[in-house]
Amino acid sequence: MSDQRTVFEQPTEEVQAHRKPEYSVTPLFLNRWSPRAYSDQPVSEQDLYSILEAAHWAPSSFNDQPWRFIVAKTDEQLAVFHDFLSEFNRTWASKAPVLILVASDTKRENGDPNGAHAFDSGTAWGSLALQAKILGLATHAIGGFSRDQARTALNIPSTWELHAVIALGYQGDKLTLSEGLRERELPNTRRPLKDVVFEGPVSL
Ligand SMILES: Cc1cc2nc3c(=O)[nH]c(=O)nc-3n(C[C@H](O)[C@H](O)[C@H](O)COP(=O)(O)O)c2cc1C
Repeated sequence: MSDQRTVFEQPTEEVQAHRKPEYSVTPLFLNRWSPRAYSDQPVSEQDLYSILEAAHWAPSSFNDQPWRFIVAKTDEQLAVFHDFLSEFNRTWASKAPVLILVASDTKRENGDPNGAHAFDSGTAWGSLALQAKILGLATHAIGGFSRDQARTALNIPSTWELHAVIALGYQGDKLTLSEGLRERELPNTRRPLKDVVFEGPVSL
């Protein structure tokens, strides 16, 4: 487990080289990035459930908590998930010791559509990723998977939307990746803040 204070207090050298925020930001936000190389070190049950607990404390519209997490951690469960990943994602994500499918209930308890289910579940995924980083673990969201196959294999109700599969584990050696992916195994950057923040009417 990494030093929990370090992850909050200073960007790693690799992160400093690639990520240059325009304003001051707690280093945790920069230190989280999505690697594809995972080691075979298992994730403890305690850490896994701390991470899911953090996700579950996210805010949601009417506190409806529409997020649902389907966890794969045994060989048998993981094999089911590997089957519905896209071929590209399977090449690297099948090394992760835990995969978590993030879904959301599109209906509120009274049956009305919940227009905020995706926004709320995205918020939960953000907390999940940060809590994992605090515990020294890495995450990588995957949108490239067959929703139809996942729905059938996991018996998921048609009212749940399937958002992403999250790879969770300890970051591994990038030499375990294919050559093409090795080059991409770096913290990436962001477009300028002025492209995404507007004061008053939008001017593009
Ligand atoms: C909803 C979602 C779907 C994604 N799908 C994939 C995917 O199918 N394959 C992949 O390699 N990365 C995927 N990513 C990872 C993004 O490319 C990555 O988060 C983005 O480039 C920002 O990089 P960072 O997470 O390292 O900061 C996905 C991320 C999100 C949030």
